Amino acid sequence: MQNCKVTCVCHEKGGTGKTTTAVNLGIGIARQGKKVLLLDADPQGDLSKCLGITNPQELTATLATAMNGVIAETFIDPASVILHHNEGVDFIPANAELAATEITLVNAMNREYVLQEFLAPLKNEYQHIIIDCRPSLGLTVVNALTAADSVIIPVQAHTLAADDMDGLFKTVGRIKQRPNPHLKIDGIVMTMVDGRTNLARQTIRDVRTRYGQVVRVFATEIPYAVRAAEVPGKGQSIFQYDPNGKVAKAYENLTREVLNIGSREKADRDTNAR
Ligand SMILES: Nc1ncnc2c1ncn2[C@@H]1O[C@H](COP(=O)(O)OP(=O)(O)OP(=O)(O)O)[C@@H](O)[C@H]1O
Ligand SMILES: [Mg+2]
Repeated sequence: MQNCKVTCVCHEKGGTGKTTTAVNLGIGIARQGKKVLLLDADPQGDLSKCLGITNPQELTATLATAMNGVIAETFIDPASVILHHNEGVDFIPANAELAATEITLVNAMNREYVLQEFLAPLKNEYQHIIIDCRPSLGLTVVNALTAADSVIIPVQAHTLAADDMDGLFKTVGRIKQRPNPHLKIDGIVMTMVDGRTNLARQTIRDVRTRYGQVVRVFATEIPYAVRAAEVPGKGQSIFQYDPNGKVAKAYENLTREVLNIGSREKADRDTNAR
């Protein structure tokens, strides 16, 4: 399978909607008939929990197993760490072992490229790989950005969010200089938008003004909804838990916007190849 796109959902700040976006965008893309792999790259294991793993600590085959295999130059069959969710996505779970792997990475050969090496054969199996990053800019995130084609940045619409992105933009800039010149920012998505509050509207205006000239700010805004706050404990996507709700509609629209970027990039590649 060609044309696999790898996207990191990334923000150094905690609680901005990364995991919720990774899960619902991934399942949204799978609902459009694409083969999707989700990667939990956070030792908290939140994506794994959202996909129904009640206690990630009990798992013995995780993303850490896969990355430790690359570091030790031991073959790990990708199938041994991949799980399947009944809404049509595959995923690789994580738990606290990934925090130990991050320390091992410090002294590893080619330490930025470990995840990229593991994912290389999987790019023949999937059309989209989505990586849910932990809220930091440590080596696991550097590995994710090195393995990725693009970044999506969820920004919570009721904080002074615009001030928190400079570190992430600097890191993306550094990654583009060396390990991964192809890395692109697909865009910023505003999350948990409570449109009734002035603060939310003001934050969105600030982000669009400050960053909108240089990166796409997705037209779709993800609204705040109690049903969305409840969904992580259910092992389901918002499409299954609250199919007629506004958050499901919003993630469906975001999915469409993200797939349109992919279609335009493919058309450009085909034109350049002619
Ligand atoms: N649209 C929404 N409406 C209401 N609550 C939401 C919405 N999106 C996410 N949440 C809730 O906000 C919290 C943070 O979301 P999430 O876990 O997706 O953020 P995160 O960026 O992955 O956090 P972390 O940085 O800890 O990994 C979670 O409890 C989640 O259920
Ligand atoms: Mg998270």
